[in-house]
Amino acid sequence: MKLLAVCLGNICRSPMAEGALRARLDAAGLDWVETDSAGTGGWHAGEAPDRRAIACARGHGVDIGGLRARKLKASDFEYFDWLLCADVQNLIDARRIAPIGLAEKAVLLLDWAGVEPEGEVADPYYGDTSDFERTWTEVDAAAQRIAVRIGNTQERVSWERP
Ligand code: 4NP
Repeated sequence: MKLLAVCLGNICRSPMAEGALRARLDAAGLDWVETDSAGTGGWHAGEAPDRRAIACARGHGVDIGGLRARKLKASDFEYFDWLLCADVQNLIDARRIAPIGLAEKAVLLLDWAGVEPEGEVADPYYGDTSDFERTWTEVDAAAQRIAVRIGNTQERVSWERP
């Protein structure tokens, strides 16, 4: 199983989601699940996460300081089983570059995790510390649910065309 968290800049929401997923999966003994993150925009490629995102994650015991931003690419749809998008615009932008037949691998993170139907992770970039805390609460709730589900099913590849 390979999971890719996707947002716009890959410096706030998706690296926080990647960190939360990695922490929850490892705590559940699911180290065979691969995690990564990417942005639909490439402006911050090569950069570390936003310092506020790093500080927020660190406050919850998760180190995301070593992550580096990169832009989403079409081949991510080949490699990953699921592309977990923070908001609807990310979902639209991601699906736009999907190879034929693979667009449905891109889903909304909170929806797919079972946290909130059609729920979006709001962009904290122009917000303050409390906005980053809300982001963490949302992505970590999703990460917990996902880890429990994968732990229950032990599914190694969940996305297959019939
Ligand atoms: P993210 O937040 O998509 O959660 O990483 C953003 C980061 C940077 C920008 C927008 C959103 N930006 O416009 O530079």
